[in-house]
Amino acid sequence: MTDLNALIAALPKAELHLHLEGSLEPEQLMLFAERNGVDLPFNTLEEVKAAYNFSNLQDFLDIYYQGMSVLQTEADFHDLTDAYLKRCHADNVRHVEVFFDPQGHTERGLSFATPVNGILSALDAAADKYGITYKLIMCFLRHLPEEDAFETLAQAEPFLDRIHGVGLDSSEVGHPPSKFERVFAAAREKGLKLVAHAGEEGPPEYVYEALDLLKIDRIDHGNRLLEDDALIARVKDAGLTLTVCPLSNLSLCVVDDLKDHPMKRMLDLGLRATINSDDPAYFGGYVNQNFVETAQAVGLTRDHILTLARNSFTGSFLSSEEQAVHLKNIEEVAAANP
Ligand code: ADE
Ligand code: ZN
Repeated sequence: MTDLNALIAALPKAELHLHLEGSLEPEQLMLFAERNGVDLPFNTLEEVKAAYNFSNLQDFLDIYYQGMSVLQTEADFHDLTDAYLKRCHADNVRHVEVFFDPQGHTERGLSFATPVNGILSALDAAADKYGITYKLIMCFLRHLPEEDAFETLAQAEPFLDRIHGVGLDSSEVGHPPSKFERVFAAAREKGLKLVAHAGEEGPPEYVYEALDLLKIDRIDHGNRLLEDDALIARVKDAGLTLTVCPLSNLSLCVVDDLKDHPMKRMLDLGLRATINSDDPAYFGGYVNQNFVETAQAVGLTRDHILTLARNSFTGSFLSSEEQAVHLKNIEEVAAANP
C-alpha cells in the first residue's frame, strides 16, 4: 500500500491560494514589531499564539490586520516572502500564485511600491534559490468601497507587467461580488486574471455573482457552492478550479471537524479542487500539512492525492507547456510510489 504521507511529500505541487500577510509567523511578528518599534497588545509569543483562536472569518481578520501593521519596509516584505518560499521548498511546492492586500498597507500610510517591491524581489530570487516560479495577485478588500479598489488599481498601473491578476478578499458576508463589478471589468480590460473569494462564508448566490458579474477565472474556497446542484454542475462543466483551504476552514469554523470537510466530495463530484494553506501562520500548517491532515480526516486515496497535485498545476495560470512539464514530473513520482 502506498505510504500517502511519503507520496504527498514527494509530489511536485503548486499553491494557488496563499495570502503573504497570512504567512507571518508569530516569531517574525515579534521580530518585525521590535525592529520597527511597533507597539502590539502582546508581550510574549505565547500571548500571540493564544490570540490565534477564531470562531469565524471576522475574528481572524481583526487579528490579521493588526498583525500586518508590523510590516513597514521593503525588507520586511522581502523577508516575509522569502520565509514563505523556504517553507514551499521544504514541501516540494514548485509554483506559487500568491495574494497580497495592498490596501492593508496603503491605508496605514505605506506607499503601494513598498510591499510590491519587497515581495517581488523575494519572488524573483526564488527561481534560482528554490526552483520556484510565481504569479502575483493583488486583492481588493471587499469591506472597503469600490472607489478605493479603483484607486488601488490606478496605483498598481506602473507594476501591471509584474502583477498577474486581481482577487477579492476580506469580510465576505454583506459585501457581495456585485459591489465590485465595475472594478473587475476595468481589471479585465487591462488583461489581468480575475479570482475572488466566494462561498467561504457567503451563500451560493455570491458564487453565482462572482461567475456572472465578475467573470472570474478561478474560485477561492467555494465550499458553499455544494449547497446548489445546478451550481455544482455549472462549475464542473466550466472546468473552473476551486482553491480550497481545509485547515483554514477548520480554524474559521467553516467546518466543525476536519472529518466533515467536503474535499473528498468535491473530488468525487469531478470538481477541480485544489488544496492550499490560505494563511498558514494563523491556521496551523503549510501545503503538505493541509494535504496530510485532510487525507487522514476524510480518507483520501492515492488517486485523490495524485488528482490534487495535477489540479494544482492545471488550475494555475501557467501556460499549458509549463503545466505539461510539472504534470510529467507528477507521473514520474506516481510511478516511483505505486
Ligand atoms: N484574507 C486573508 N485570508 C482570508 C480568507 N480566508 N478569507 C477572506 N479574506 C482573507
Ligand atoms: Zn484566502
